[in-house]
Amino acid sequence: MDFFVHESSYIEENVEIGKGTKIWHFCHIQAGAKIGENCSLGQNVYVSSNVKIGNGVKIQNNVSVYEGVELEDNVFCGPSCVFTNVLIPRSKFPKGKDNYKKTLVKNGASIGANATIICGHTIGIGAMIAAGAVVTSDVPDFALMVGVPARQVGSVDMEGQIISRIK
Ligand SMILES: CC(C)(COP(=O)(O)OP(=O)(O)OC[C@H]1O[C@@H](n2cnc3c(N)ncnc32)[C@H](O)[C@@H]1OP(=O)(O)O)[C@@H](O)C(=O)NCCC(=O)NCCS
Repeated sequence: MDFFVHESSYIEENVEIGKGTKIWHFCHIQAGAKIGENCSLGQNVYVSSNVKIGNGVKIQNNVSVYEGVELEDNVFCGPSCVFTNVLIPRSKFPKGKDNYKKTLVKNGASIGANATIICGHTIGIGAMIAAGAVVTSDVPDFALMVGVPARQVGSVDMEGQIISRIK
């Protein structure tokens, strides 16, 4: 095996895990998930069926990547950030997986700790989502997004330096 899975984690069948990837304590990876090379999944990360995760992705502790979410290369998911896949959930009237709304997080974007991403949106290349923000719309490439609901307050570069602020 050219990847690492801690013995406390559970990997279902038909999962692809790339070279150099590390999956730490108490993770659960469901069938059909694809995780690229050189990724790091912290403690208590859940990856749902058929989720695709690119190369160099870092997922901090306590993150669930639900079906319908795709993370491109070098995405950073801060601790306890939240993805969703049903816009208007009802326990008694489940929408079913065919109606999950997709979320795409593009190359190099970062999501801050405890941020929530409402499903059906794309987070652009290199975007930076602040800690605790709630994303309710598509996020432009390299946008710095803050607050509830998240608004663009500036721009960042690929390294995450803030290069402009909106007054
Ligand atoms: C959003 C962020 C990138 C802003 O960085 P910054 O602009 O250098 O931060 P500053 O401290 O200069 O704050 C600028 C303003 O934004 C506010 N602000 C900063 N972070 C905020 C946040 N997460 N939510 C709401 N407002 C925030 C500050 O209070 C300040 O407001 P003011 O101008 O009214 O005083 C940063 O605060 C952040 O949230 N980073 C994510 C951290 C994280 O989750 N890391 C995960 C890995 S451990």
